[in-house]
Amino acid sequence: MKVKTTVNGQVYERETVPYKTLLHFIREEIGLTGTKEGCAAGECGACTVILNGKPVNSCLVLAVEANDAVIETVEGEGAGNELSDLQAAFERHHATQCGFCTPGMLMSIRDLLRRHPKPTVEQIKAGIEGNFCRCTGYVQVIEAVLDATGQSAKKGELKHVS
Ligand code: FES
Ligand code: FES
Repeated sequence: MKVKTTVNGQVYERETVPYKTLLHFIREEIGLTGTKEGCAAGECGACTVILNGKPVNSCLVLAVEANDAVIETVEGEGAGNELSDLQAAFERHHATQCGFCTPGMLMSIRDLLRRHPKPTVEQIKAGIEGNFCRCTGYVQVIEAVLDATGQSAKKGELKHVS
């Protein structure tokens, strides 16, 4: 069966099988491998993409369900070799180590910033609650989001974030 989607503004039409997940469709059929597979069970958020304006775990969505959908993946961040403001803030704050969680984290934050252009620390925490990072932790991520939105943490505000 054929699935037609618009990913990062480009239209793709690909033949696929009914049981293929959107995650595997994006990686294998479209060839965009920024989106990662961690748990494949909706637990880690590494596979987060924005589907018709909402962040989803693409490991839990079938490709056929995304027919005619508009999808955003991490490859849509920045322009060419230019980092987006958010990616540049991640770099400044060392908010990524192995980087495995980063593509999904960026997609969740992109969604958050559309809803809350100047998010509070609590809103940032809620925005990334579905994204598991096993090595960097969350302090640097929160600092990066605050920086990208022209803010900084108040003294002691991130003390209990790990
Ligand atoms: S790979 Fe989809 S939530 Fe972990
Ligand atoms: S940077 Fe390694 S899992 Fe988050």
